Order: sequence, then C-alpha cells, then structure tokens
Amino acid sequence: ASATIDSIAGSAPIRKPQYEQRQLNTPSEDLQQLIKSLGLLKHQEGGYFNETDRSSLFMESPYYPGHNDGSKTKPLRLGGSEEPDLPNPEDNTKKIAPLRNTSTLIHYLLTCDAFMGRFHRNNSRIIHILQKGRGQYVLVYPDGTVKSFIVGFDVARGEVTQWVVPGGVYKASFLLPLDGEESEKDHLLISEVVVPGFEYDDHRFMESYDELHALVGDRADSLKWLLEAK
Ligand code: GUN
Repeated sequence: ASATIDSIAGSAPIRKPQYEQRQLNTPSEDLQQLIKSLGLLKHQEGGYFNETDRSSLFMESPYYPGHNDGSKTKPLRLGGSEEPDLPNPEDNTKKIAPLRNTSTLIHYLLTCDAFMGRFHRNNSRIIHILQKGRGQYVLVYPDGTVKSFIVGFDVARGEVTQWVVPGGVYKASFLLPLDGEESEKDHLLISEVVVPGFEYDDHRFMESYDELHALVGDRADSLKWLLEAK
C-alpha cells in the first residue's frame, strides 16, 4: 500500500470510541511507564507527545509570506518571482522569508485517558510511521472530501503502517481497541516527521462547528466530536 493516503480507496466507518462512557481514564501501568520513559507530555490537540529531533540546519519557509493557507503548493521565491533561486538585485522591496529548521520528529501517543487528537492542519505534508498499537485517522480536504482509514499492523486487512497527510488537509485521530472492546491497555504510538520543521505559524486548529460545517455540510454533526481535544 502506498504511504500517500490520497490513493486509499473507500472510507472506514467513523464511530466515537467509548473510553469515557466506560470510565477508562487511567492507562495501564505499562503505558504509564512508556509515557515516562519517552518523556511524553499532554498535547493541546489531545494525546501525548514529545519532540525527539529538530534539525540544526535551516531553510527559508516555503510558505512565505507565511499566512496559514495550506492550499499554497508552489514555494514563493524572494522577489516574488516563480523562477527559482534568482532574487532580483534591483528589487529592494523584498523581505526575508522566515527561517525554519529543515525537519522535526515527534512521538505521538493516544491512550484511554487521551484517546483523540482534534482537527488541525499544517502547511506541510506530515509523514506518519506506526510504532505500536492501533487507531483511526479522519481527514477533511479543502473541497470537503472526508477520508478515514485505520492505522495498524493488520496490513492484510488494509490497515496501514505509514501514511502521509498532505499539507492543508485537516486531520483528526482516535484510538481503536486492540481486542474488540475498549480497555486501559489500548494505545497508538506513532512517529511523525515534518519538513520544514514544526512551527505554530504553519499550524492551525479547526476553529468551530461552523468551519467544519462549511467544509463537509451535513456530515458535520457526526464529526463534531473530533473538534474537541481529549
Ligand atoms: N509543539 C507543539 N506541537 C508540536 C508538534 O505537533 N510537533 C512538534 N515538532 N512540536 C510541537
């Protein structure tokens, strides 16, 4: 299966997991130890995370002038020309593009007490690599297309172990039970690589039910639980 989820056929049904209703709010001892060992902290998008690498090389932001519209696909060049790498020496109006680290790497973990990551998007495509466990992703494209797929090691059943979320596409994620029924042992541990490296200026949370509704119309009602961090 391709890492680029654009080619994924169909969509997995989207059902909110029942960790709250079942009052599963403490991850197993093993998972608590994992959170400690990896130095993970609660993330404001939901789940736990830790940045494990940030390149010390720098590059110009390809999204200069830096608004948060992820639809931009062509890097802007200094001097406003689309010709590569030849800033016009006559153009004294040009500004310096902000710098970014060339890459960052994180661990991201979902557990029963933090079982979902709420809708957000990044200007850059993000490479995801499954480390442990099982979960589900929901993507909302700028044209309102909704895609959902299961991340897990049962590749014969179409679960994926690598997935790339395109820049400008909203994503949310949630934990899936390993054994049919929710338990405090459920987990989803992944690695994420982003190029250029992560900065909040390149990142945006989905703001409101209205924004979701403007994108997906009537489907907003069944997806609105993915607007709120857990
Ligand atoms: N800081 C806050 N959120 C993030 C994130 O998603 N990735 C990285 N690298 N740093 C962050």
